[in-house]
Amino acid sequence: MRIGILTGGGDCPGLNAVIRAVVRKGIGEHGDEIVGFRDGWRGVLDADTVEMDLKAVRGILPRGGTVLGTSRTNPYGVEGGPDRVMANLERLGIDALVPIGGEDTLGVATKLAEAGVRVVGVPKTIDNDLDSTDYTFGFDTAVTVAMEAIDRLHTTGDSHHRTLVVEVMGRHAGWIALHAGMAGGANVILIPEVPFDVDAVIAHVQHRFDSGYSPIVVVSEGATPKEGDMVLATGEKDAFGHVRLGGIGTALASLVEERTGREARAVVLGHVQRGGTPTPFDRVLATRFGLAAIDAVHDGQSGVMVALRGTDIVRVPLSAATAQLKLVPPERYAEAEVFFG
Ligand code: F6P
Repeated sequence: MRIGILTGGGDCPGLNAVIRAVVRKGIGEHGDEIVGFRDGWRGVLDADTVEMDLKAVRGILPRGGTVLGTSRTNPYGVEGGPDRVMANLERLGIDALVPIGGEDTLGVATKLAEAGVRVVGVPKTIDNDLDSTDYTFGFDTAVTVAMEAIDRLHTTGDSHHRTLVVEVMGRHAGWIALHAGMAGGANVILIPEVPFDVDAVIAHVQHRFDSGYSPIVVVSEGATPKEGDMVLATGEKDAFGHVRLGGIGTALASLVEERTGREARAVVLGHVQRGGTPTPFDRVLATRFGLAAIDAVHDGQSGVMVALRGTDIVRVPLSAATAQLKLVPPERYAEAEVFFG
């Protein structure tokens, strides 16, 4: 078979492990031809391809990013986009497509599957907010990076008797903040799912100082205060319509400083959470997803996404996986709250 592969949306540690697994199993076991599309859906729109043979995937397992490149191009936002995609797939003789991406990339995949393209999706996002899968690869790496930063910030914060506000990624879901904050022993964790009470945050910070230690506040980039609690320049968008990083962390550090009368600093981890080599967990999960995607293609499946359920790799409908985001449930947040202050 001729199988197309692409990586879309924000890059994510483990993307190359998926590509490698698809190529190794597709060519090695089935004699497939694997056609890479450069820069996500942009490459399909422009028929910008690269042949993915065994040599092309040699040595890429530990590498961060994606050898195929990525973009946030959505063919459904481009005039005549879906028709161009269909025509290119037909002309290039693509029998099936394996898009690797998050909600946006797989949202396009869902529509194409409904339009008759044979598609098997692979879930990816450091945010872990894609529904129908217990975990996405990239998340464990992002949490590890953030946890290591928090560990380091405890010692500098204690030395200077300061509050450190650590802003992590997560526009809509607080999974990274929750896991990195729990693993790093944060004194307050703020997530988008639960608008925060400014007075309560200040009380936790004060309590921590009173116990003789310096507080660490971990905040998701998408966290917001309860309405009317605090005027913040959050939600500010850049020229591409993306929410700017660094808004909430910086604003919160200023507020803590003002209200406690003690120094505070904001640390915005940003894209460092997405770069570099994947953890062993992410390498294995990404590899298993790639192998399962090839199996699904050869089983004649379409409109499905491979997913992790417990320790098993399963197939779920793409339409269900992209219908809503997987948010942090209140009971998971309540577990972390026990350690606040
Ligand atoms: O979806 C992954 C993610 O890293 C989010 O956590 C973050 O909000 C966003 O991408 C940042 O996007 P960009 O790299 O386009 O600034």
